[in-house]
Amino acid sequence: MNVTKTILARLSIAHSFLVRQIRDGMGSIIASKFTNSSTEIRTIKDGDLEKILEVHKEAFGERVPTQVMRYSNKFKNIFYIYEVEGEIVGYIGYYIHLKRVGWKIVPLATAYSVAVAEKMRGRGISSIMYKESVHQLKRNGVRAIYAYVNEQNMASMAAHKKAGFEIIEEIKNLYGQDAGYKMELRL
Ligand SMILES: CC(C)(COP(=O)(O)OP(=O)(O)OC[C@H]1O[C@@H](n2cnc3c(N)ncnc32)[C@H](O)[C@@H]1OP(=O)(O)O)[C@@H](O)C(=O)NCCC(=O)NCCS
Repeated sequence: MNVTKTILARLSIAHSFLVRQIRDGMGSIIASKFTNSSTEIRTIKDGDLEKILEVHKEAFGERVPTQVMRYSNKFKNIFYIYEVEGEIVGYIGYYIHLKRVGWKIVPLATAYSVAVAEKMRGRGISSIMYKESVHQLKRNGVRAIYAYVNEQNMASMAAHKKAGFEIIEEIKNLYGQDAGYKMELRL
């Protein structure tokens, strides 16, 4: 019985992994065609990752930056950077997934990580990054953006609400004991 359970659990993990690989593969093909016309934010380039990981560490502590490492490479065209005097002080990363709406397949985006260097917070940087990146995603055909926010994270809740996101679902224990909100911004 235990052996059966273990096999089923492993099959389920393998299935989720495969589904994610296919989703990311298709999303990255779509995103590779996206262009950026903003003069306020730019997309990631070689050599940026070290500084981005510093900003990530300052924001999220020792949490392993798995998604940033994986998606900043796979979705380069939609990993946006904000600089002040040539120094990276903020970033926002998205990945693309596809959804069937009627007869059409439409691209949706998820903002999986956003952070601003501690000394630069509260100066409107995330608001600029959201405003500009949302505009870029929209002009490249994205129809909605999603974000997951810890309900205890007041700064993040305020930043996402200001960017126009609305709560569409509450997910219990999304962050350990804390619940999280799934938020949506329709474009
Ligand atoms: C969340 C975060 C990205 C916001 O970036 P920011 O550049 O400081 O945000 P902005 O200055 O653009 O502020 C956006 C809105 O949020 C509000 N806000 C910012 N910090 C706040 C705080 N600590 N408490 C309450 N509201 C806050 C601002 O007042 C502003 O709203 P307003 O213009 O209506 O007053 C930043 O605090 C951060 O990097 N936090 C650590 C990482 C993190 O939690 N990321 C989000 C994970 S989902």
